[in-house]
Amino acid sequence: MSIGIIGAGALGSNIARVLAGNGIAATIANRRGPDSLAELVQELGPSIMAGSLAEAARADIVIVALRWVDLEKVLGGLPAWNGRIVIDATNPVAFLDPDSPDAKDPTNPLAAYGIKVIDLGGKHSSAVFRTFVPGARVVKAFNHLAAEALLKPAVAGGQRALFYSGDEADAKAKVRKIIEQTGFYPIDLGTLDVGGPLTSLPFGPLGTANLVRI
Ligand SMILES: NC(=O)c1ccc[n+]([C@@H]2O[C@H](COP(=O)([O-])OP(=O)(O)OC[C@H]3O[C@@H](n4cnc5c(N)ncnc54)[C@H](OP(=O)(O)O)[C@@H]3O)[C@@H](O)[C@H]2O)c1
Repeated sequence: MSIGIIGAGALGSNIARVLAGNGIAATIANRRGPDSLAELVQELGPSIMAGSLAEAARADIVIVALRWVDLEKVLGGLPAWNGRIVIDATNPVAFLDPDSPDAKDPTNPLAAYGIKVIDLGGKHSSAVFRTFVPGARVVKAFNHLAAEALLKPAVAGGQRALFYSGDEADAKAKVRKIIEQTGFYPIDLGTLDVGGPLTSLPFGPLGTANLVRI
């Protein structure tokens, strides 16, 4: 099963690090192109290749690690998914310019974190996400831990838990296998409509849960 990662920022690069650390091959892409990822792929060794957006997007399993505001445009320009697996690792937040009025808005409870919630009109984010990837089998995973925590699956004498949810058993089983191979403890939260809202940042009840299986 080939793996592509779209987005090579804080989250995408650390997902690549976790995969590389376990010898799992993947192609990673960003906006600026493969040359800009030369340092990262040199650090990570031969299992991770830098590719174009099109190359990462044609994998059997595509991990989306883009900012919410970029999703519709980037995903909308990609070829048909034809039942391939897409991992939604995103959260519906906007990253704020520290000098913008939003960053100093006292009514924004997340201003201190440099983010604000994006209003999705009452829908949960994976319900919106799946409309951006018609024909894909969507599994939500890798979205609820801070990117740095992904580098430490073994912690406090146990395994850090990683939640996942989705509507299709085979797709979930394949994602679960990746979670297991990377040393995390997988917890199946059910369908996308059940698990998605539970883990969605910032206000899902499990959105910031950092559980360790001892
Ligand atoms: N950071 C975290 O701790 C964390 C944890 C859990 C979930 N998340 C979620 O993960 C997502 C990404 O967050 P992040 O912190 O990793 O953001 P980030 O550091 O800003 O990274 C975003 C990445 O998207 C790439 N990108 C933008 N437009 C693109 C395009 N047209 N084609 C290909 N790549 C494109 C950027 O490429 P360039 O570098 O070339 O601009 C960059 O590599 C967000 O939805 C966030 O909510 C983040």
